[in-house]
Amino acid sequence: MVGRAAFDYSGESAIVTGSTKGIGRGIAESLAAAGADVAINARTPADVKETVAELDAEYDGTFVAAPGDISDLDAVEKIVETAVDAFDQVDLLVNNAAVWPREESLLEASLDEWEAAVNVNVRSQFYLSKLVAEHMLANDIQGNVINMTSQTGDRRSGPRGLYGLSNTAVNGLTWRMAYDYALEGIRVNAISTDAARSYQLRYEAEQVADGDPDRTADDVLDEMGEQRPIGRLGRPDDIGNAVLYLASDAASYVVGTILRVSGGGNLQGG
Ligand SMILES: NC(=O)c1ccc[n+]([C@@H]2O[C@H](COP(=O)([O-])OP(=O)(O)OC[C@H]3O[C@@H](n4cnc5c(N)ncnc54)[C@H](OP(=O)(O)O)[C@@H]3O)[C@@H](O)[C@H]2O)c1
Repeated sequence: MVGRAAFDYSGESAIVTGSTKGIGRGIAESLAAAGADVAINARTPADVKETVAELDAEYDGTFVAAPGDISDLDAVEKIVETAVDAFDQVDLLVNNAAVWPREESLLEASLDEWEAAVNVNVRSQFYLSKLVAEHMLANDIQGNVINMTSQTGDRRSGPRGLYGLSNTAVNGLTWRMAYDYALEGIRVNAISTDAARSYQLRYEAEQVADGDPDRTADDVLDEMGEQRPIGRLGRPDDIGNAVLYLASDAASYVVGTILRVSGGGNLQGG
């Protein structure tokens, strides 16, 4: 038996960081398709404007541009202000945007890469959540915060240690925020994925295929998908569906969980 889910988010408003591409764009689309109003964020204003126009053309909700670099604290405050001004109330924050420093070993990681990884991937999640939670408390909103994390956050070794440790920190942040916020009626959860089709994953595939006459980036992505237990890569709407579930009344008793949405990829590797 396989059940069929349908979520109704009409009248609800969300901020999704990093929502012009990849998983964030998929989350914004899923919320829009379910009737929500969404504030679109990324660093590139032209992409934000284009995403807002595309969602406007397709869906009934209200979509607002909230561009800004989430490693900049003033920009974070402006993003929240923009969403509150546009929607009056914000019911859901999805902390999705992240950067992937590419160092092979922590011995070669620079302090600048550390700052980027920690400020974009962790500090922004803490500060955005805090501002949105203060807004929720002031307006009696029983809202939701959902953090994106990665399977690298569960690992103790491997390349890209900065990316991995920033996701380990997001897992810890999720647990601790979840407890403190639950006492105030706000649910905090996280979604962990491992390989989902996105701008970043395509970039990785292009690097692997570069100089190999027998393989294209699409071939590399297909091979990655075949290596997952479920036999395919994740899609942005797989993560979008998980957001729809976690922020819904169907998950009203789910607090501080890290939902694995990775086709069984979470069961592989060290
Ligand atoms: N794709 C995967 O296989 C995978 C696996 C595990 C976990 N994840 C997690 O899923 C989330 C989304 O990843 P993705 O692969 O979809 O990424 P992506 O395709 O690279 O998209 C990243 C989005 O975030 C924006 N962004 C990047 N830095 C930002 C900043 N400092 N401030 C505001 N926006 C910023 C980008 O736009 P601009 O460049 O214009 O700012 C873009 O819209 C991340 O948390 C990532 O760690 C992804």
